[in-house]
Amino acid sequence: MTRELLKVLAFLEECLRFSPRSIVLTLISLVVVLALTWVLWIIFEGSASHLQTTFNPKSDNTESIHDLYMIVWVLSGFVMVGVLTLTMAFSLIFRERPGAPPAQQFHGNSRLEIIWTLIPIVIVVAIAIPSFQVILETEGDPPANSLEIVATGHQWWFEFEYPKENLITANELHIPVGQPVSIELRSDDVIHSFWIPQLVGKVDMVPGHNNHLWFTPYEPGEYYGQCAEYCGTSHANMRFRVIVETQEGYDAWVANQTNDALPAVGTEAQAGEKIATTLCAACHMIRGTSTNTAFAIKGPDLTHVGSRNHIAAVTMENNSENLAQWLKNPPGVKPGSRMPVLALSDEQISQLVAYLQELQ
Ligand code: CUA
Repeated sequence: MTRELLKVLAFLEECLRFSPRSIVLTLISLVVVLALTWVLWIIFEGSASHLQTTFNPKSDNTESIHDLYMIVWVLSGFVMVGVLTLTMAFSLIFRERPGAPPAQQFHGNSRLEIIWTLIPIVIVVAIAIPSFQVILETEGDPPANSLEIVATGHQWWFEFEYPKENLITANELHIPVGQPVSIELRSDDVIHSFWIPQLVGKVDMVPGHNNHLWFTPYEPGEYYGQCAEYCGTSHANMRFRVIVETQEGYDAWVANQTNDALPAVGTEAQAGEKIATTLCAACHMIRGTSTNTAFAIKGPDLTHVGSRNHIAAVTMENNSENLAQWLKNPPGVKPGSRMPVLALSDEQISQLVAYLQELQ
C-alpha cells in the first residue's frame, strides 16, 4: 500500500515539475482570474441593492423563485468548478513532455459511461422536484381574501382597474402590504409581459387570452415594474411603479381615487379644464366632467393624474415642467407615442398643466 502511494506521489512530482517561467505565468493567470471574479462580485453585489433586481425578493412569489434559483446556481456552480478543475488537472498531469508515454486511443468503458450518465440524471431530478413544487405554489388559485385587479397592457403604458373598488388608474399600482393580490392580465393590442422583478415573475399579457398571477408583498416600499416582451418602438419606455403601503395608506388612496374630479379653481386652470374636456376628451376620461369615454383609442384615465408620481409610463417625474414638455411633443419624450403632437400654444399648455396638476 505504502509502496503504491509512493509510486503515485513520485508520478505526480514528475508531472508537476515546472520551469520557473511557467510557474510565473500560472501565478499571473491566477491573479487575473481572481481579479475578474472580484469585479463580477462587485457588480453582482451592486445589482442586489438595485430596485429592478431579482436577487432581493420582497414577496412570496419572488422568494420561491429566488430559492429555486439558488439551488440551480449552487448545483451548476459545483458542476462548473468540478469540470474546470479536472480539465486543468488532466491537461497538466498528462501534458506531453520528454519521457512521458504517448497518448493512446481506446473505446468503451462501461463503468465510466454509467457514472457520467447517472450524475446528470441525479442533478436534473434534484432541480425538477423543487421546480414542480414552486410551479404548483405560484401557479395555483389565489387565496380567497385576495385583492382583485385587472391589468391591461397598451402600447406603451399599463392600465390598472380595481373592479370592486370601482377605480381605474395608470402606470401606478397601489396595494396594501401583507395582503395577497390577484391580477388578471389582458392586452389591448400586442403581446406584452408583466414583470415586477422584486414582487412577481414575468407573465405574458396576450390579446384575447387572459392570464393570471398572484403574490403577497412583504414590505411597504416603491417597486419597479417593466414590460418584459418586445412590443414596439417604446417597449423600453413601458414601465410602471408599484406602491406597497400600509392598510391605512392604501385605504386613504382608494378613498381619494374613487372621488370624481373637482371643478377647476382659478382662471388658468379653468381655461385648462375647457381644453381637457374637449380636445383631450377624444382619448382620455376625467370622471366628474363631461368627457366622453366611448372612443376606441383610449389613453390613461386622468381623473387623478396630478396625484401620480410619474407621467408618460414612468418616463418622467410628474412636475409642471415635465408635463409641459410632454404636452408639447409626446413622441419626443416617448418615441412612437400614440398621443400625437397637438400643436398647442404655450399659453394653452400652461393652462392644461395648471388644470392637470389640480387633479389630485
Ligand atoms: Cu409592452 Cu414591451
